[in-house]
Amino acid sequence: MKNQESKSLFKRALKVMVGGVNSPVRAYKGVGGEPLFIMRGKGSRIWDADENEYTDFLCSWGAILLGHSDPDTIKASYNAIVDGSSFGAPTKNELYLAEAISSSMRTAEMVRLVNSGTEAVMTAIRLSRGFSDKKIIVKFEGNYHGHSDIVLSKAGSGLATLGIPSSAGVPEGCVSDTVTLAYNDIDAFENFMDQKGKLVAAVIVEPIAGNMGVVPADIKFLSSLRDKCNENSSILIFDEVISGFRVSKGGAQSLYGVYPDLTVLGKIIGGGFPIGALTGKAEIMRYLAPEGSVYQAGTLAGNPVAAAAGFAVISQLNDSIYQNLEDYGKEIENLIVKAAENNGIRVTVNRIGSMLSIFFADNPIKNFNDVLRSKKELYTPFFWSLLESGIYAPPSSYESYFFTASHDESDIKRLSVALDSSFGSLKNE
Ligand SMILES: Cc1ncc(COP(=O)(O)O)c(C=O)c1O
Repeated sequence: MKNQESKSLFKRALKVMVGGVNSPVRAYKGVGGEPLFIMRGKGSRIWDADENEYTDFLCSWGAILLGHSDPDTIKASYNAIVDGSSFGAPTKNELYLAEAISSSMRTAEMVRLVNSGTEAVMTAIRLSRGFSDKKIIVKFEGNYHGHSDIVLSKAGSGLATLGIPSSAGVPEGCVSDTVTLAYNDIDAFENFMDQKGKLVAAVIVEPIAGNMGVVPADIKFLSSLRDKCNENSSILIFDEVISGFRVSKGGAQSLYGVYPDLTVLGKIIGGGFPIGALTGKAEIMRYLAPEGSVYQAGTLAGNPVAAAAGFAVISQLNDSIYQNLEDYGKEIENLIVKAAENNGIRVTVNRIGSMLSIFFADNPIKNFNDVLRSKKELYTPFFWSLLESGIYAPPSSYESYFFTASHDESDIKRLSVALDSSFGSLKNE
């Protein structure tokens, strides 16, 4: 595989961009070596700076659902740009997107568009505290809710990849009211709420965790969160930045039938442009400025180009797309299990729809400790072997594989060959 051009771009990038990247996991620290510079994408395929072609199973960390350069998204965002890319005033595009989100998700009675998932979580937490007049935030190990101070402890994603338990630069005061409990552990959660529930402003959870690999919540765990939040007048926040519009139009909440008070969205709703959204019950959302006293603002919030792109994506979604993603996912899951078996490698595959993880373990993976106990060291040679075979996988064992509605049988064929040689290469590890 040629990589001279990526290498030379990375060398230049290291001089002006910290670690050569604008987001840490892109730097390949989780798998060693140097990242590839991606020049373009079409459908399920991407091309790097040396013209190597890959089937993309990263899909912009889950932001791309229909495939790269989706024609409707291109048209909508182009038309929006032609009309001017930002005004700092209300536009029709943001209204259309807010309406589309609200009509897709049962709990999204009102919507506040922001620029990233991080910002949406930050706002959800401030709003919960403002509404409930309480302080404590409960979160769960291995879940990731963006990089704001309050939620940066024992988090998944980049922190887990880099082995950072919590970030430097976060004063103790910022996290003194954040409590982190084990994911899917009903007893630990209920014990805590029985003692401190009256002080809990909000409980935030990824209903399908996607930042320690894919680890779905147990339905009983989510129901317990719902019940205890009701009992204690605490706000239940679902962080559906990944799962929202990926697992169904109504999000993970509609799959589980357990509904939060607030939902945080991002990724897919921007069609590949920067975006985030805080959504929820009108009664709570109206506490936000300008109607209420909880302040939040943004120069580019609800940007018309991002909103047009997101609306173009959501407008195309229907049941058959999700059914096809499920069928395709099942095929990939079977392929992985079989290829691993054929090569004598033990794996556990967790999958919901088009999000999937391969854990080098033979036990069920239900929480962060299970993830930590898996043979993560096998991921590095596996990743590089997949890449050599034209498969672009997440460069960290803590991240999910994603695929799009554009992935087809030719990608399955390519993956099948790649899996066989990649699992095969692990035999002696
Ligand atoms: C579940 C979850 N919440 C929040 C975020 C933060 O979103 P952003 O990277 O847009 O700030 C992410 C990012 O990956 C995420 O996966």
